[in-house]
Amino acid sequence: MRQFHPRIMDRWIVGNWKMNGSAADISAYAEELRNADAKSWTRPGARMAVCPPFPYLTAVRQALQGLPVRLGAQNVHPAAHGAFTGEVSAGMLKELGAELCIVGHSERRTLFHETDAFIGEKGRAVAAAGIRPILCVGETLAQREAGRQLEVVQAQLEGALAGWDGAARAALLIAYEPVWAIGTGRTATAAQAQEMHAAIRAWLAAQWGSAASRSVPLLYGGSVTAQNAAALFAELDVNGALVGGASLKAGSFLGIFQHA
Ligand code: PGA
Repeated sequence: MRQFHPRIMDRWIVGNWKMNGSAADISAYAEELRNADAKSWTRPGARMAVCPPFPYLTAVRQALQGLPVRLGAQNVHPAAHGAFTGEVSAGMLKELGAELCIVGHSERRTLFHETDAFIGEKGRAVAAAGIRPILCVGETLAQREAGRQLEVVQAQLEGALAGWDGAARAALLIAYEPVWAIGTGRTATAAQAQEMHAAIRAWLAAQWGSAASRSVPLLYGGSVTAQNAAALFAELDVNGALVGGASLKAGSFLGIFQHA
């Protein structure tokens, strides 16, 4: 029989649009969600969110008005304001209606050289603004082939989550996204996801206590589709998904949500 961690009631299906979308796409997306069968939406305890590029946050919020879809951002700067050309603060995201914000996505770690400490600052800034941070962690293919995935992810957790207070901890979601599975069509097996999620839960329990560890939703990300979602979500510690490519079309995103 399936067991449930008692304090985790919610499952999160979060779409990360990355640098994709257009004003026209947003209308079509909202239209398709609106026209979807009401049954598609009735998944008790399951929550859907989309994270569009910054310039579309307001348009997406308006287009999705009345639908049970939350709004998230893909990045943030930890400072409240100041001379940081091109950056966006957590307070600004809050004003635009964001309820979630991805921090530490592997593309930002790799392409923009973000460190664990900087990612941790972002997460705390977001939480202080009343937005839930989704901290992304995950190993590269070379690290997995060397059998180092658990230690790599543990180091990312240690680096990013040092000094988080109770309120920030309560806001946190974590997404395990193996780099080799992102955008490759090669998803982790359900067993690989569960093994890592259990290790993350155990690390949280050791650091923060078991009650706190059970309140952090652990999402899996990396080539999640409507075809592989059910097997992933059947695992005890997989509390949802962070979805890239398959979130760009409302139909395939809803197809994943069906399994939540
Ligand atoms: P993918 O991306 O679903 O396209 O693999 C996931 C992510 O990068 O969050």
